[in-house]
Formats: sequence, C-alpha cells, structure tokens
Amino acid sequence: MNILVTGGLGYIGSHTVVSLIETGHKVIIADNLSNSNKEVLDKLNSITNSNILFYQIDVTDSDKINILFEQHKLDGVIHFAGYKAVGESTLKPLKYYYNNLLSTITLAKACKKYNVKKFVFSSSATVYGDNNVPFKETMSLLPTTNPYGETKVMGERILQDLVKSDPEFEVTLLRYFNPIGAHPSGLLGEKPNGIPNNLMPYITQVAKGKLKELHVFGNDYPTIDGTGVRDYIHVMDLAEGHVAALENIKQGVHIYNLGTGNGTSVLQLITTFEKTNNIKVPYRIVERRQGDIASCYADVTKIETEIGWYAKRTLEDMCKDAWHFEKSTVTLV
Ligand code: NAD
Ligand code: UD1
Repeated sequence: MNILVTGGLGYIGSHTVVSLIETGHKVIIADNLSNSNKEVLDKLNSITNSNILFYQIDVTDSDKINILFEQHKLDGVIHFAGYKAVGESTLKPLKYYYNNLLSTITLAKACKKYNVKKFVFSSSATVYGDNNVPFKETMSLLPTTNPYGETKVMGERILQDLVKSDPEFEVTLLRYFNPIGAHPSGLLGEKPNGIPNNLMPYITQVAKGKLKELHVFGNDYPTIDGTGVRDYIHVMDLAEGHVAALENIKQGVHIYNLGTGNGTSVLQLITTFEKTNNIKVPYRIVERRQGDIASCYADVTKIETEIGWYAKRTLEDMCKDAWHFEKSTVTLV
C-alpha cells in the first residue's frame, strides 16, 4: 500500500515507517519538525536502504495537504502528528486543541475529498481515565485529567462520526499503552526536549549521569509495591502493531488496545533496567504526581483474536534497547 504517515519523523512514527517499509509498503512522510528533526529522515533512509519521500508541512494546512493528496495516489493514512506533553497541555490548552484536532479534521477532509478510505489514528490509553484494570475497548471512557487526553477522546469521536456519515470509511483507532525502547540499531529512539516527563527517558538519563537521580512519584498506591503500574510496550512491537492493524483494516470503526497485557511497577522497571544493563539508577521516593493513576494496563484479547497480533519483545529488550539508544546519542554538557 501507499501510505501517508503524518508525524513520521517522531518517536513512534519513525519506528512505524521502518516496519512499513520492511513489510513492503510505500511511505510518504509529512512532518513539520515541531518535535523532531531532519536527521531522523537520513537514519530512516539508512536503516531501510531507501529514499523516503518527505514533505516538511504542517498537517493543519489544508492547501498543502490537498496538494499532497492530489500528487500521490494514496491507499491510506496513519496519523501520528500531534502534540503529546500532558503538563504543557494544561498550560497551553488552545495550542493542543488547535493542533491535535485541526490536524485530524484536515486529514479526514482530504481523505473524504480524494476517496482515501483507510485511516489509522494514534489514540492513547489515557482515554480510559481511572477505570478498573485491565482496560478493555468496550469500557465507557472516563474523563481524562488534561487537555491532551481530551484531544484524544475528541479525535476518536470525530472519526467515529465521519464513519457514521460515510460507512465506506475504514477507520482503526489504536489506543497505545506506554511505548518505550528504541530501534535495535541505536539510530532511532525517544529524544525528549529538556528534562524528560516520562519514566524511561528519565531512567536512561540518570544512568548516563545527565541527571542526578530519579524521582519516584509515590509509593503508597494500591499496587504490588506501592509505585505506579503501567503496561510498557517495546516501540518496535507498537510499530508492527500498526502494520498488522493496517493490513487488517475493514469498513467501519474498530478500536484496539496496543499493549502487552502486563503491568510493571516503577520499582520493577528500575530493577529490570539495572540488571539488564548492569548499571545503577539512583532514585528517591517523592510525592505523587498530580493527575497520575495507580494502574494502567491493557486487555489485549481483542487484537490477538481479531488480528492475530501480539507484542513479542520482553521488558529486558525494552531496557536494553532504550539504554543502547541513550548511549548512542551525543550529550551536550
Ligand atoms: P512525537 O512528538 O515524537 O512525534 C509526533 C511528530 O508529529 C513529531 O515529529 C512532530 O514534529 C510532528 N507534528 C506535530 N504536529 C504536527 C503538525 N501539525 N503537522 C505536521 N507534523 C506535526 O510523538 P510520538 O511519541 O511519536 O507520538 C505520536 C502520536 O502518538 C501522537 O499523536 C501522540 O499523542 C500519540 N501517543 C503517544 C504516546 C507516547 O507515549 N509516546 C502514547 C499514546 C499516544
Ligand atoms: C504518560 C502520560 C499519558 C500518556 C502515557 C503514555 C503524563 C502525566 N501522562 O502517562 O497521558 O497516555 O504517558 O505514553 O505524562 N514516574 C516516576 N518518575 C518519573 C516519571 C514517571 O515515578 O520521573 C512514574 C509515574 O508516576 C507513572 C510511571 O512512572 O507511575 C509512568 O510514567 P510516565 O512514563 O510519565 O507515563 P504515564 O504516567 O503512564
């Protein structure tokens, strides 16, 4: 298939581009580089031994998107482009609603106009709110605690309404759990700007000595050891999940969790990282982080039974590849 990947130079998009090309699909990337850089394109070309078509455009720009759709006969779109920093979204809600919603609407309008019926959307486990684990696709969604989360709930709803109006659309909403890790080459990975908000990039930067110690946000949750439990998934498994979802896409709206189905606590992740990489990660328990929930992990029965996809890589693989990527990146002191 000929697939437009928006946000294809970002963390999850770039790994998915690798999986798409490795399975024989053609890729066109649209990214405005707001949270990525052009070097990723060179790395993608080198990993896949190809010359990927890249458009440096803002997906909210309907004129440019229409030109792109006119120039290329697309079979489908995977829409990753968006802002994702939860904390920033509470400070700059309009920036988040504007970019995340307008990008989805602009693309969906172009798909309708140019008769491109396959649409895969990056959603998040955050839409489940503080439901009882494991999270199942059939659960009623609970309010999220921030504008970022709301953009995912609204993005899902916009696409569901589109399908109601035009049942020929084939829309898959993928709810990601916690992607971590990196491409085994060490060339691609997650490179947050400034001090990381998420756990794994924080751990790798502490291990490298860039940051002094990890703050563990609370040890009084009702979990195995009191620290928060999440469903960490290797980003290459997540990438392969997109290819499986795309290849099995069908009419209507279909929602799938992309996780492993296993919950891991913060302390368990630290211990696994230390053992796998034979390196210490100094940490200190501090107050809970506002807006965090105790446990979040997936029920993955639906994607396993309907599509036959499941995550193959272990927590050790995630820790090894995340560390390999961190070691491969240059630190500017
Ligand atoms: P990322 O920031 O690494 O990648 C997003 C990419 O989109 C970046 O390259 C950025 O430059 C680009 N972009 C943003 N707005 C754009 C626009 N208007 N036009 C063109 N390009 C634009 O983020 P990621 O971690 O790869 O996440 C990808 C998607 O998955 C996002 O929609 C995110 O909300 C969603 N998601 C991510 C996670 C996670 O933990 N990383 C979890 C759940 C859902
Ligand atoms: C984050 C996002 C969420 C998104 C999800 C998946 C926030 C508040 N939420 O959630 O919207 O859907 O990623 O990508 O950013 N932790 C520490 N110390 C740290 C960082 C994290 O103890 O320095 C703990 C957290 O309390 C949590 C776990 O580690 O228990 C994972 O945190 P994080 O990586 O930020 O992901 P989520 O909180 O699941």
